[in-house]
Amino acid sequence: MVLSVENLSKSFGKNKVFSDISFSVNQGEIVCIRGKSGEGKTTLLRCLTGLEDADKGSIKINGMYLCKEENGHIKYTQKTELSAIRQEIGLVFQSFNLFPHMNVMENLTEAPIFLKKDPVETIKKRAEVLLNRLELEGKENSYPFQLSGGQKQRVAIARACMLNPSVLCFDEPTSALDEQTRAQISKIIKDLASQGIAIIIVTHDNSFVEEIAQRIITMKDGAITID
Ligand SMILES: Nc1ncnc2c1ncn2[C@@H]1O[C@H](COP(=O)(O)OP(=O)(O)O)[C@@H](O)[C@H]1O
Ligand SMILES: [Mg+2]
Repeated sequence: MVLSVENLSKSFGKNKVFSDISFSVNQGEIVCIRGKSGEGKTTLLRCLTGLEDADKGSIKINGMYLCKEENGHIKYTQKTELSAIRQEIGLVFQSFNLFPHMNVMENLTEAPIFLKKDPVETIKKRAEVLLNRLELEGKENSYPFQLSGGQKQRVAIARACMLNPSVLCFDEPTSALDEQTRAQISKIIKDLASQGIAIIIVTHDNSFVEEIAQRIITMKDGAITID
């Protein structure tokens, strides 16, 4: 199993968003997390990807603990290991969060160049491969404002794939899409899963869940049920 979450809890002040959530995801599996607006879906994704600290519980990604419960306290991993763990889990934001002042190629290569993972030429080559695979060839020099919603989303997916994550999370991937682009995103997600990437999709779009989910987790009143 590539992701395992145990007894995870998160509050904002007095607002308990979720308590004691546990679930796991296998390699290449597509899991949907659904729930009404405000149930804590985005907060859960932000905790899984290390953008938000949980209050309690543990998150294990690819054998490494992002955080762990020790003597009744949550302990986050050291900074050096944190970077390695966060590279294993990518997030495609609901609003894509592309850097508006960077073109497509720069959006893809910024983080890997910063992390000095590989020589710049190797990183650029990898970006080209991903852009081709996501049908974005020729868009390298375009800026986000010059792209359609579906294209921006695919750039965001390509960017999230640049560091070769084991897990890829999507926050409401169909919220800004028309029918045709929806079919395209569904195919892309299935392709990524078939390459072995574990997929977590947060959505309140029940028809998309029916179409794509291999397992469904429902968030309600701070707890989850798994079908
Ligand atoms: N940064 C934050 N500070 C305080 N409260 C927050 C923050 N982010 C989310 N919340 C609250 O947490 C709850 C869950 O929000 P969210 O995770 O965005 O839900 P969903 O994505 O399911 O619509 C809401 O009550 C929201 O107001
Ligand atoms: Mg949300």
